[in-house]
Amino acid sequence: MATSTIIAGPEAGAADLPTPPEGSVMVTVKIARFNPEDDKGAHWDSFSVPALPSDRLLNLLLYIKGYLDGSLTFRRSCAHGVCGSDAMRINGVNRLACKLLMKDMLPKDGKPLTITVEALKGLPVQKDLVVDMEPFFDAFRAIKPYLMTSGNEPTRERIQSAADRARFDDTTKCILCACCTSSCPVYWNEGSYFGPAAFVNAHRFIFDSRDEGAADRLDILNDVDGVWRCRTTFNCTDACPRGIQVTKAIAEVKRALLFAR
Ligand code: SF4
Ligand code: SF4
Ligand code: FES
Repeated sequence: MATSTIIAGPEAGAADLPTPPEGSVMVTVKIARFNPEDDKGAHWDSFSVPALPSDRLLNLLLYIKGYLDGSLTFRRSCAHGVCGSDAMRINGVNRLACKLLMKDMLPKDGKPLTITVEALKGLPVQKDLVVDMEPFFDAFRAIKPYLMTSGNEPTRERIQSAADRARFDDTTKCILCACCTSSCPVYWNEGSYFGPAAFVNAHRFIFDSRDEGAADRLDILNDVDGVWRCRTTFNCTDACPRGIQVTKAIAEVKRALLFAR
């Protein structure tokens, strides 16, 4: 990727920038840029940004967009690690920008810090840090991520024991951020592979005692693009910002396919 470096920030003396807050240090944020509407192609831009230990990377990106380059494009919504929209590759690792605290990044010895930020791998880049999530959501939809039941509508809630609820508790935590799927080497090489996030969400229903669609879903996961392509490399588990045991969930789905639920 071509390098086109822009160093801009308060230390460059720009009069219209706010004074950096007391206790902040200057950090270089190097961002992979791509705009399909210009002829620059994929390239890197670097920005000099004041950072406090209490900032999250998302604050730095918002500073860049607000004061240095309004064309920088990325998704974010909740800013609290719940919506899953600001997943990106930060220093080569998939993270949520709103969960990455600067105090965990700033060197203790005061050395200068450069943070590289790229779009998620394995999904088409639309602009800068925004990828097309449709292939990811297609796989999610394919596993039928909703409660499937037969018979008449119940007249009261569907009862479930605490132990039955605990059986799939871990996989209910998924926020569909795509950190796992876009860190999976099988997904990078074979885009038709469903990917770990789809398996996690299938697990959430397959092991729900109230659901009657497990056989349907297991049939789907037994497909050529299903769980058997997983190479158990654990990238997905390492990447999950919710701490979900993704590879364990995949292993449980494989076991369910072999031995029935
Ligand atoms: S464990 Fe399986 S799904 Fe997870 S990253 Fe590795 S190959 Fe992909
Ligand atoms: S399993 Fe974890 S990494 Fe994967 S989509 Fe869900 S929350 Fe994100
Ligand atoms: S902005 Fe919602 S998870 Fe980061």
